[in-house]
Amino acid sequence: MEPYVRIFDTTLRDGEQAPGCTMHLHEKLEVARQLARLGVDIIEAGFPAASPGDWEAVNTIAREIGTADGPVICGLSRATQADIEACAKAIAPAAKRRIHTFLATSDIHLHHKLRISRAAALEQIKHAVTFARSLCDDVEFSPEDAGRSDPLFLRQAVGVAIAAGATTLNIPDTVGYLTPDEYRAMIRDLIEHVPGAEQVTFSTHCHDDLGLAVANSLAGVLAGARQVECTINGIGERAGNASLEEVVMAIKTRSQFYELSTGIDSTQITPTSRLVSACTGVNVPPNKAIVGANAFAHEAGIHQDGVLKNPLTYEIMSAESVGQSGNALVLGKHSGRHAFRRRVEELGYTFGDTELNHLFGRFKEIADQKKYVDDRDIEALVVEEAGRPTPVFTLEHVQFASGTQAIPTATVRMTDVRGNVHIESAQGTGPVDAVYSAINRIVKTPVTLLEFAINAITEGIDAVGEVSVQVVEGIRPNKRTTLGMLKPEERVWKGYGVNVDIIVAAAEAYVNALNKLLQARQERLKAETTSRLASETTSHEVDLFGSSLLGRLEV
Ligand code: KIV
Ligand code: ZN
Repeated sequence: MEPYVRIFDTTLRDGEQAPGCTMHLHEKLEVARQLARLGVDIIEAGFPAASPGDWEAVNTIAREIGTADGPVICGLSRATQADIEACAKAIAPAAKRRIHTFLATSDIHLHHKLRISRAAALEQIKHAVTFARSLCDDVEFSPEDAGRSDPLFLRQAVGVAIAAGATTLNIPDTVGYLTPDEYRAMIRDLIEHVPGAEQVTFSTHCHDDLGLAVANSLAGVLAGARQVECTINGIGERAGNASLEEVVMAIKTRSQFYELSTGIDSTQITPTSRLVSACTGVNVPPNKAIVGANAFAHEAGIHQDGVLKNPLTYEIMSAESVGQSGNALVLGKHSGRHAFRRRVEELGYTFGDTELNHLFGRFKEIADQKKYVDDRDIEALVVEEAGRPTPVFTLEHVQFASGTQAIPTATVRMTDVRGNVHIESAQGTGPVDAVYSAINRIVKTPVTLLEFAINAITEGIDAVGEVSVQVVEGIRPNKRTTLGMLKPEERVWKGYGVNVDIIVAAAEAYVNALNKLLQARQERLKAETTSRLASETTSHEVDLFGSSLLGRLEV
């Protein structure tokens, strides 16, 4: 069996589907670009029939990232003609494209969710895969909840999909229920017993409800699966999916055991993780394997002593091999634009002149306050730039006073998109509250803060601090609102800020989130006006979704 394992990244589909992980189009595009740099084989860019926004994201990624030497661009679709058609249209611009269609096969799902018989499910699989193959040569089929399906019926379902032309058979443990031994046995059983199994690629898709997603994926690979579906930072439905970085580094670090390889450039893992974290607003825990801030930090004296004598004593892989650079002293305040651009490019990022100039300005601000700016500081600025919408308001100045005897007070100066200057002061329960109240007085858009997280990116007293926030439109009095309490149609806006002063970083993050909300509102108004004007002409895209504005779907 071939030793190459394809990496199928579903950060933009299964990952983005998780509560609080929704991304804007420009963020999805930036993540897709970085996934291509990382070297993933397939990007599952979204679920085109779920909403016009999802369709547009998949279509844009197909156009911009789906080049002949780039990754395969894949879209998800339920096993219906309308979904498959929408998917085929969305991925059409990609040089290499795949339709991924799925239907549940467990009795629990068939009986309670789909309310169809096993025989009807087999018929639907046959029609869906046949139809998908008539539109695209590369078709993946997933028997959803395979992990809890009757093994003999699962064989039948997979057999029908292969006979109808599926080229990849993805076997999801949708609810993260199986143990590694069981998952391995399930994949082996299918490979050994389903007619035509030798002509197709088997794939793993494991959820982390019992913390076994990575172990199960690797067990599936040992049984003969040659594609792993995973996400950056392990984001995804509920407890998440198998984490790409863990699967890839297990295969690489234990290559003598697995005797397998992937096409991933592991030095791009950390930049990708940071970008996804910034775009989703979901922080990576410090102890997270491979990409956590402490993954390569040696605190205990005995460990430090060992590592200084020989890193092999406590390190099974180097920080550099996953892009967690050990390079501490890179640039300072005297560094020029040229050196800065070179370092940004060496770190694997490319920017146009306007973005680079903005980034360089931010770098100078940090370098003025901090002796050395290292790679992690630069990466933090890069992800901030990637998530920066065209600002409706620009934060010019933040001043605050607080202390044990003082009433926290803040003054904020901002300019709006027309160049008007606004200055407001406010008091609060703490300096962040005071700054946010002053900003609210200027922006005049009621929001509720759902999440507020502070992270020190680099060590030491002059560390750069990053703040990520999540807000939802409208004030909810009386109770603490959490992500889980939101209605499906309520949009969460994420903001990200980086500064050596943590209060200023908090202000930047808040303004960043408010700008996204205001920008989306402007776009919505623009779209409404355009569609009112064009109400007599029915466009093709409107036809496609007019009958089924599905909203976000849960799969
Ligand atoms: O977990 C799951 O079953 C899925 C399928 C749609 C592949 O995400
Ligand atoms: Zn899934």
